[in-house]
Amino acid sequence: MYRFLLAVAVPVTLAAQYQANSRVTWIEPGAKEIIPQFDAIGNYLGKLGIVQAAGPVDTAGHPFFTPLGSNGRACVNCHQPAYGMSVSAESLRERWHETDGKDPVFAAFDGSNCPDLPQDQEKSHSLLLNRGLFRIPLAWPPRNADGSPKPVEFSIEVVRDPGGCNLSSRYGLKSANPTLSVYRRPRPAANLKYVTSGAQAIVLKTGMLADRDPDTANPVGMNLMSDAREPSLKAQAKSAVMGHEEAHESPSRKELDGIVEFESQIYMAQVEHIFAGPVADPKGPFGLGPLALRDRRAGVLGDNDFDPVFGLFDAWKGDDYYRASIARGANIFMFRQFWLRDATHINSIGLGNPLKRTCATCHNAQMTGQDLSAGWVDVGTTNYPTWTEPGTWAEQADLPVFKVTCRRDADPHPYLGRVIYTTDPGRALISGRCVDVGSIVMQQLRGLAARAPYFASGSAKNLREVVDFYDRRFDMKLSETEKDDLMNFLGVL
Ligand code: HEC
Ligand code: HEC
Repeated sequence: MYRFLLAVAVPVTLAAQYQANSRVTWIEPGAKEIIPQFDAIGNYLGKLGIVQAAGPVDTAGHPFFTPLGSNGRACVNCHQPAYGMSVSAESLRERWHETDGKDPVFAAFDGSNCPDLPQDQEKSHSLLLNRGLFRIPLAWPPRNADGSPKPVEFSIEVVRDPGGCNLSSRYGLKSANPTLSVYRRPRPAANLKYVTSGAQAIVLKTGMLADRDPDTANPVGMNLMSDAREPSLKAQAKSAVMGHEEAHESPSRKELDGIVEFESQIYMAQVEHIFAGPVADPKGPFGLGPLALRDRRAGVLGDNDFDPVFGLFDAWKGDDYYRASIARGANIFMFRQFWLRDATHINSIGLGNPLKRTCATCHNAQMTGQDLSAGWVDVGTTNYPTWTEPGTWAEQADLPVFKVTCRRDADPHPYLGRVIYTTDPGRALISGRCVDVGSIVMQQLRGLAARAPYFASGSAKNLREVVDFYDRRFDMKLSETEKDDLMNFLGVL
């Protein structure tokens, strides 16, 4: 108990000190600043390190930092260096109070639960303020590159719609442009050489052809966005300008190149832990800190003893209380076996169900802990009833719920059959396939301390809730100490 108090109570007081010392860290669109080559910005667990591999960046007139559309937003609104090139829900709440809800990040289009709600009220932005979620409007049915509708294997009904957007006559599923709104966290726009690596001509999980980069015609890794809908950083940047920034005209080629160049050279990771000290330790694990991300090679499979995801933590197994805890947590992540069960695209691809494996089986890409192959998996974060927590429906009462009914001739969802209730169908909204309902592309596991909450739906408020989710979901039977260890480990990434 004493140790537990040490682990929990002390950081709170020290975190308060960090906040008192911290500088203004929110970069406004249109700012004129020089971002240094090496920077470290405080968060509740220590400091996040940010590296510009190509040297200092002048934000004046830079397309990542300049509004390119009609709502005053730039990419940086939702991808802030201080918050791991994402934004934390806490920073958004602070922003709401500081600007009386006027910051462009709260733009009606996707910074509110629905554009037709009264925009001056806090409750119209509840998903953003409580969970850090932006509205992602997706055309239903999905369309091919030439604009023709894709064939789909299921129909969708709206069962519950607290924000009102899915039933809205202007924005909803029955509007003139049938659209489904899901609500998702911004994914980090950094360390992207890893995120875009791992291209294969055929997607291992489905046996189908991988998408191709429209510019080069090469197959792509399919790890961008929660549903892999964007084939390349350039295509993604263009969609973001047209969507999040509400541009009426396409960005120029020069603007797109400037955006992609910037986001391809920025690296971020925790550099300092509040008690364990600097984490980029030459004798310690090779994977910690942003310089390692800058310098190492992408596309390495890390689910094995020879090339572990973040390196070996043996040098930290000594007397330092926090380093030892982090090292134990790293070992749980890499080596603790438990029964993976009913996770589509892991248990359903011929490896067995259940399957005795580790966290690193799914989070297997070295340095980022994504999936080296196309990373969509239904781990149980959006579909009912895989999420077994009692009262889930009430807990998730602010999110929409959809009922998906699959055609009888389609392959069913392997564990939930042909009728599935879900808060976000994930990959299925793009592929139109029943087996993909609820599969979400895993995010990179870096800079976590700077960018709570977690999972695409923001359903885990903090790292403890991530660990509790896995403990329940896979019946891991972690002790309190082991949970602390795993949290401490995730916190230094
Ligand atoms: C209003 C907030 C917002 C703005 C503005 C915004 N993004 Fe994002 N970004 C998001 C969200 C939300 C996601 C995740 C969407 C999903 O998973 O479907 C995302 C995802 C991404 C990703 C994918 C990362 C990954 O690992 O999958 C990249 C890259 C990115 N954004 C870059 C940009 C760029 C470049 C711009 C400016 C042109 C931009 N974003 C503007 C909210 C925003
Ligand atoms: C069956 C595959 C699988 C296993 C095993 C697995 N994960 Fe995940 N993980 C995922 C998927 C898929 C997501 C994305 C889910 C979502 O966003 O809804 C995810 C997301 C996460 C995130 C959220 C990252 C973010 O940016 O929000 C963390 C942290 C995480 N996993 C840690 C772990 C840990 C620790 C373990 C072991 C206890 C583990 N995972 C085991 C598939 C897996």
